[in-house]
Amino acid sequence: MIPGASDYGPGLRRGGPTTYNRVLMSYYEHHIFFCLNQRDNGEACCAQHDPQAALDRCKSRVKAAGLAGPGGVRVNKAGCLDRCAGGPVAVVYPEAVWYTYVDAADIDEIVDSHLRDGRVVERLLLPASVGR
Ligand code: FES
Repeated sequence: MIPGASDYGPGLRRGGPTTYNRVLMSYYEHHIFFCLNQRDNGEACCAQHDPQAALDRCKSRVKAAGLAGPGGVRVNKAGCLDRCAGGPVAVVYPEAVWYTYVDAADIDEIVDSHLRDGRVVERLLLPASVGR
């Protein structure tokens, strides 16, 4: 362990204002969740849009760019995020930026612009009014 570091995560220092650090610092710079939920009752769901392919593409592009890992980017699957009407959806934390996407080019743009360069991809934002 790095001298002075705590086991709470990168950048957190022993003896510092730990609670404050935990609130302000994220283990990952960006954590993106892709909804993979499938409904069997015919209602709209993200699984109707092959979100696994999007998640796989995002993961491989993040890795190829050297962004993966603590202090960088983490890509995860999620269950229903309750915004099904806008599916497929993905959300990036800690910014809480919600996206919808259509194809691989959209995923590439989210990775390159948002996850790598910190610029939100406005054309892919999920309107705030979209729910289940
Ligand atoms: S099924 Fe994806 S948000 Fe509900």
